[in-house]
Amino acid sequence: MAAPPPSHLLLAILTTTLLLCNTIPSATAAATTTTVNVTSFGKAYAKVCDGDRFAELGLNMSSFSYCDASLPYADRVRDLIGWMTVEEKVSNLGDVSRGAPRVGLPPYKWWSEALHGISSTGPTTLFDDLHSRPGNHSGRATVNNGTVFANVINTAASFNETLWKSIGQAVSTEARAMYNLGKGGLTYWSPNINVVRDPRWGRALETPGEDPFVAGRYAVNFVRGMQDIPGHHSVPNNDPYARPIKTAACCKHYAAYDVDDWHNHTRFTFDARVTARDMAETFLRPFEMCVREGDASSVMCSYNRVNGVPACADARLLSGTVRGDWGLHGYIVSDCDAVRVMADNATWLGFDGADSSAAAIRAGLDLDCGESWIVDEEGRPLRDFLSVYGMEAVARGKVREADVDNALRNQYMTLMRLGYFDNIAEYAGLNETDICTDEHKSLARDGARQGMVLLKNDGDLLPLDPKKVLAVAVHGPHARAPEKVMDGDYTGPPCRYVTPRQGISQDVKISHKAHMTIYFGGINLHIEREGNDREDIRLPKNQTEEILHFAKASPNPIILVILSGGGIDISFAQKHPKIGAILWAGYPGGEGGNAIADVIFGRYNPGGRLPLTWYKNKYIKQIPMTSMELRPVPELGYPGRTYKFYDGPEILYPFGYGLSYTKFHYETGTNGTSVKIPVPGGHCKGLSYKPSVATTPACQAVNVDGHACTETVSFNVTVTNAGARGGAHVVLVHTVPPPEVAQAPIKQVAAFRRVFVPANGAATVPFTLNV
Ligand SMILES: *[C@@H]1O[C@H](CO)[C@@H](O)[C@H](O)[C@H]1NC(C)=O
Ligand SMILES: *[C@@H]1O[C@H](CO)[C@@H](O)[C@H](O)[C@H]1NC(C)=O
Ligand SMILES: *[C@@H]1O[C@H](CO)[C@@H](O)[C@H](O)[C@H]1NC(C)=O
Ligand SMILES: *[C@@H]1O[C@H](CO)[C@@H](O)[C@H](O)[C@H]1NC(C)=O
Ligand SMILES: *[C@@H]1O[C@H](CO)[C@@H](O)[C@H](O)[C@H]1NC(C)=O
Ligand SMILES: *[C@@H]1O[C@H](CO)[C@@H](O)[C@H](O)[C@H]1NC(C)=O
Ligand SMILES: *[C@@H]1O[C@H](CO)[C@@H](O)[C@H](O)[C@H]1NC(C)=O
Ligand SMILES: *[C@@H]1O[C@H](CO)[C@@H](O)[C@H](O)[C@H]1NC(C)=O
Ligand SMILES: *[C@@H]1O[C@H](CO)[C@@H](O)[C@H](O)[C@H]1NC(C)=O
Ligand SMILES: *[C@@H]1O[C@H](CO)[C@@H](O)[C@H](O)[C@H]1NC(C)=O
Ligand SMILES: *[C@@H]1O[C@H](CO)[C@@H](O)[C@H](O)[C@H]1NC(C)=O
Repeated sequence: MAAPPPSHLLLAILTTTLLLCNTIPSATAAATTTTVNVTSFGKAYAKVCDGDRFAELGLNMSSFSYCDASLPYADRVRDLIGWMTVEEKVSNLGDVSRGAPRVGLPPYKWWSEALHGISSTGPTTLFDDLHSRPGNHSGRATVNNGTVFANVINTAASFNETLWKSIGQAVSTEARAMYNLGKGGLTYWSPNINVVRDPRWGRALETPGEDPFVAGRYAVNFVRGMQDIPGHHSVPNNDPYARPIKTAACCKHYAAYDVDDWHNHTRFTFDARVTARDMAETFLRPFEMCVREGDASSVMCSYNRVNGVPACADARLLSGTVRGDWGLHGYIVSDCDAVRVMADNATWLGFDGADSSAAAIRAGLDLDCGESWIVDEEGRPLRDFLSVYGMEAVARGKVREADVDNALRNQYMTLMRLGYFDNIAEYAGLNETDICTDEHKSLARDGARQGMVLLKNDGDLLPLDPKKVLAVAVHGPHARAPEKVMDGDYTGPPCRYVTPRQGISQDVKISHKAHMTIYFGGINLHIEREGNDREDIRLPKNQTEEILHFAKASPNPIILVILSGGGIDISFAQKHPKIGAILWAGYPGGEGGNAIADVIFGRYNPGGRLPLTWYKNKYIKQIPMTSMELRPVPELGYPGRTYKFYDGPEILYPFGYGLSYTKFHYETGTNGTSVKIPVPGGHCKGLSYKPSVATTPACQAVNVDGHACTETVSFNVTVTNAGARGGAHVVLVHTVPPPEVAQAPIKQVAAFRRVFVPANGAATVPFTLNV
């Protein structure tokens, strides 16, 4: 791996002022139990505004101007809400919303997931080989599976923005097809863009890693892929709320959420104590990019508290930041149960159900995903909470009807943009033949191999030439990894499923007598998953022993392939002379076995880079998972977190690490560009300097408040490939602050681009950065 190009740019330090404001209602109440039948569209209706559907309900559609497609969305939504009684309104605050059949509005299920392909998580998506759920209408096409892309941590490792967007586009096409078939929704609660602050976090696999900027770019591209309709990038009548979208994506989980269950600190009750600086730089940044640059149509608030206040009841975070400062065009949804958890588990301020519901709605929540005691006709609970307590909250004066109207307006504007009322012509014809297409399957295979990271390759052990290495011995628990390992979580049944062993066996014979050994190890969802953080970051002990055993027994150095989401301390293998090559394959999805074989046999030259630091296990003994600080805390002996604040001895493989089968070199066209920013006098402000700094400049930093900040710096990086094998290379551009400034990051990613460089060729990558 070549070193990152030396681009030392200016660093601007931002500060944010936090305002804390909350109301504290109190009282008690009891829950009511109701039984509600939930139906979805009948076979014949693809949209709400279908005259025949109204006629079947005994209604005349032309009396309802919310179905008048010539009117602006905002007018139609006002009309719709105007027809509804307060009871009807409240019954639509949960994810299984009841609609208002009396005035033509059918029920809608909001909860669909598409983290890396259409997922069967949630009550909405129906694959026919899974158990039947409400909404199954016979006579429609059978769909047993969808394209399962690699898990997000792999996809992130590609550092390829085009790939991120392409996956969003493919997933949303399959989603629209599922919707047309009555098997899926239009509102997807993906992506998960929480920063991986601690290597023990159980959900690292779902995320784009530890860098807030990379996570933000991932979010922007995935969301644009999910939402954008070609030809509709411009905003009709300058009204961003009216831009039609293909599916609705959701930036989650907002905010400062990354403790699931560690030493009995669970996400339901954990209070993340976060400094204003970490909040702005790290925890909010991907969300800000997701909303502002991705124009995501939804944000999900998290279970945890932030500085004492449950995220879903924090008016400053919701109405203030997301809707006010960032201008969300869409709806805010709670993580599933978050409102109930406030009352039942966090016992926040002694709130009961009505108090929690009121606090959430008044803070800016528009939709509650939550468990309740309401059951459907088959006795299964319908998961929502606000519709149970909402009426009580209104009756007790804790919530105004206008607050409920406001929440519904945000919901229905989103559904209008999705064509729920009118359908969208471009997508109306999608059907089962648009799911698991060859194109999507090859994107899944290509994506999986783009994200694989070569960690070690002594003596160019890899790639193997199947003409020379005729047979290999294959060992390890993940050689025949089942679907639940390869596919990770938030997944559906894959179109096709290839294990590592099957992938390898297409190229060479598998024999135990072979002289070349490949060991497929790693961890799985028993060790890292939602609701379960890791105790340590090593391999299971017996696996380490087994790897060492095969390394010793094998005549040649062995190849180790690691399947995992988070990093693993494989110090024992890093320098072991009999472990010649190490490949991290993440959880590579349905096409994973093929993708692994492509890399091992050299059909694909790996170019992925680690999107998070791989630490040695000793690191986690130095800091509790519950310390949210990114910077070191010397008083407590805590090292800093992530590559931005930790470069100590407990790093096994750094953020951005990744080898190739070829050698790349850099030539930077520019060297020390300086940019002049005209700022009138009197705008200096102080910085904190390291104690060792004797004299500080008169003007330490420039206050750029009120300055347009449009100045840019441009430079080219030329990457040359010194080898006889073409390959992709990721150029990472870092900014490095002046070394004398205290508390600044060591460095941080300011830009990145993946480029293909042909054998013995070169590629020039232009960068333009806003200073
Ligand atoms: C729900 O549907 C079932 C089956 O169609 C019906 O028997 C039952 O009466 C319905 N319940 C309500 C509350 O409408
Ligand atoms: C529906 O209402 C429109 C306008 O109010 C009227 O012109 C039309 O005749 C009505 N249709 C039926 C079937 O009643
Ligand atoms: C869907 O409903 C039909 C008719 O009730 C039934 O035959 C079929 O098995 C159901 N499909 C699933 C996947 O349950
Ligand atoms: C978590 O709580 C359980 C039950 O109270 C207890 O048995 C266990 O030791 C605790 N675990 C840790 C790591 O504190
Ligand atoms: C939350 O509280 C409810 C009611 O006391 C309980 O049933 C549930 O198990 C709790 N959930 C968690 C995650 O502690
Ligand atoms: C599905 O869509 C394809 C492509 O538009 C079309 O050729 C085919 O007839 C459709 N199949 C069904 C069952 O409607
Ligand atoms: C996917 O669905 C197709 C069509 O029903 C079926 O033939 C295939 O076995 C399924 N694949 C998997 C991996 O379940
Ligand atoms: C290690 O031990 C676990 C638990 O006993 C077992 O399930 C697993 O198969 C073992 N793994 C290896 C590689 O021996
Ligand atoms: C580029 O940087 C090097 C090392 O700092 C320096 O020696 C050289 O003079 C610089 N070249 C230009 C054109 O500034
Ligand atoms: C980068 O390269 C392009 C094409 O070779 C050239 O036009 C441009 O001026 C270069 N930019 C810089 C900042 O050197
Ligand atoms: C980036 O991803 C796209 C879409 O999969 C792919 O076509 C392209 O080759 C990738 N770029 C590089 C440099 O690998």
